[in-house]
Amino acid sequence: MFSAVKQHPAAVLFFADLDPSGSASARRRIPLTPLASVKVNSPLCSSSRLSLKPLCSFSSLRGLGLGLGSRDDVSWFRCGAYEADSSEDVVLPAEPKPAAAQKLKIGIYFATWWALNVVFNIYNKKVLNAYPYPWLTSTLSLACGSLMMLISWATRIAEAPKTDLDFWKSLFPVAVAHTIGHVAATVSMSKVAVSFTHIIKSGEPAFSVLVSRFLLGETFPVPVYLSLIPIIGGCALAAVTELNFNMIGFMGAMISNLAFVFRNIFSKRGMKGKSVSGMNYYACLSMMSLLILTPFAIAVEGPQMWAAGWQTALSQIGPQFIWWVAAQSVFYHLYNQVSYMSLDEISPLTFSVGNTMKRISVIVSSIIIFHTPIQPINALGAAIAILGTFLYSQAKQ
Ligand code: 3PG
Repeated sequence: MFSAVKQHPAAVLFFADLDPSGSASARRRIPLTPLASVKVNSPLCSSSRLSLKPLCSFSSLRGLGLGLGSRDDVSWFRCGAYEADSSEDVVLPAEPKPAAAQKLKIGIYFATWWALNVVFNIYNKKVLNAYPYPWLTSTLSLACGSLMMLISWATRIAEAPKTDLDFWKSLFPVAVAHTIGHVAATVSMSKVAVSFTHIIKSGEPAFSVLVSRFLLGETFPVPVYLSLIPIIGGCALAAVTELNFNMIGFMGAMISNLAFVFRNIFSKRGMKGKSVSGMNYYACLSMMSLLILTPFAIAVEGPQMWAAGWQTALSQIGPQFIWWVAAQSVFYHLYNQVSYMSLDEISPLTFSVGNTMKRISVIVSSIIIFHTPIQPINALGAAIAILGTFLYSQAKQ
């Protein structure tokens, strides 16, 4: 009978696959409708005749109008089910969540995420141009986010998560990878155009597949490997034709890619079975990353350089420089928070497509705002790499 349907643990909480999203890292949780309370109104499913095969996928349940949200959600679920007891009434949800409302919600998340990310990238680059201390600006972003969340918890604007030592232990490798990925991306953006960093960062799926294949022994369908050709080829073409190429900038983006792949792996492994919301998960991640990064930032740059650079930046830009720093810090936290909240609503695969779209928004807007010189062949490389990430998403699906 329906109440006996078993739920795979992964159906309650799971984490991003080794997806290309970078920020897709993390985890997502989709609460399932308790099947015992499900009512059947569908012509496809008569209350007296319903019987389930021993193993059913939610893709079949979706056809019954269970309202699981986005199309990709179902691909993540499988439930082992016992034969339905035909003698009992089985009813579908009286009011399934309308698909249109869910789509609208996801659309709003995506639009907010991209907009916040574009604003972050612009202010981040403006700050780095005037104040080239990426270790400090990375630290400030994490500090600002941590402070915002501590205040939210203290004032009960947001409910504080219930965590234990195991949670923090499993978060540690995620935070190490997040810290490396974040600081490496910021160092990259301090050396090259924002657009170039994001073009190289669109190559993250290639790192994901290579790490999974050679370090974890996972295999993928041939189309997944084939999709890496345009990704790697496009990034390579964009790199060799970049007018303001800088090796540190290039390597920073590459290291960020690698670190975010490991962040995804550790998220997936370490957080399985935990139930902290996307927003709070990212808040905890920020706090731990802040603790990890601060001593390194002091060692690499240090207060003396920061103070001298601050005076120079203030004298060149004026007091609005402080607002730029505040904006890059606040928007960094907000875009990451919204991206983690999106993960609660969509599959990692949908997330990765969204992340690629985000990069297009960032690349185009930063080229316009910073008047970045770009050759047609360079733009072609970027377009090929981004097309490759779409093909990768499709191939993985
Ligand atoms: C960072 O500073 O962490 C990077 O800008 C992150 O980039 P992403 O979220 O676009 O991968």
